[in-house]
Amino acid sequence: MPVAALRGRGEMDTLVLTAADGAHAELYLAGAHLTSWVPAGAAEQLFVSARSAYTPGTAIRGGVPVIFPQFGPGPIPRHGFARTSTWEVAAAGESPTGAARATLALRDSETTRRVWPFAFEAQLGVELLGQTITVSLGIGNPGPAPLTFTAALHTYVAVADIARATVEGLAGVPYRDQTRGNASVVDEAPGLTFEREVDRLYVRTPRELRLHDGRGPDARVVAIHADGFPDAVVWNPWAEKARALDDLADDEYQRFVCIEAAAAAEPVVVALGARWTGAQRLTLL
Ligand code: BG6
Repeated sequence: MPVAALRGRGEMDTLVLTAADGAHAELYLAGAHLTSWVPAGAAEQLFVSARSAYTPGTAIRGGVPVIFPQFGPGPIPRHGFARTSTWEVAAAGESPTGAARATLALRDSETTRRVWPFAFEAQLGVELLGQTITVSLGIGNPGPAPLTFTAALHTYVAVADIARATVEGLAGVPYRDQTRGNASVVDEAPGLTFEREVDRLYVRTPRELRLHDGRGPDARVVAIHADGFPDAVVWNPWAEKARALDDLADDEYQRFVCIEAAAAAEPVVVALGARWTGAQRLTLL
């Protein structure tokens, strides 16, 4: 079956997507949260913390949290309410090419309007086949006024050892260093490596970045392609911040890099009756 509805951890509703070639993924309705992506014939590509809560209303630590309608801190809860809301299944099935796909939907409700008084229609789509998965976020504006938001797909890509991981494609791209009061920085180093906390909002990035997990010819390489999201956030909390996060084991920071397709440097404005879409496509090379 391309899409099966199951109970996941915490007895929460999930969809398990299985493509014709065996690639598979797991999507929680809570948060429209992708928690697993296993390309055909390969191993798990996403990190999820062993300490994560699986409780409605609490974001899962890892996978792909959906950040909407606010990236980071601000007037509403940090990173918005999409990741703590329960979404509905809007569509599920198989494409003519054998890809498994599902679409989840979230609309404004009394609960969302209490913290954010705007009407919206959000859709989160997942489609996978072979070595590629595409996660897309669509935001429609039913009115009555222009809709303004920031958003991100907060993707936790698993790595064997953060100290040997490199992100390529960001040389010369200005970023706001969120570990230094959002100081504006340009780094010309060809690859971003990790030896301390990294929390950077890169503004207007190239469409494709590459994560090298390990060094040399044996490194695993994941290409991360974004459409519609102009920015990218790269985050790893490192040891001290990891200790402060209850839902992350002390040493788990060594096992992931967050590479987030983001629309965060400038808010997106959607005209009345219009729709915005952004997507992130991951390919195991
Ligand atoms: C990143 C932010 O996107 O998310 C970081 O840039 C933040 O500043 C991180 O610490 C994790 O956020 P949270 O709310 O999931 O702990």
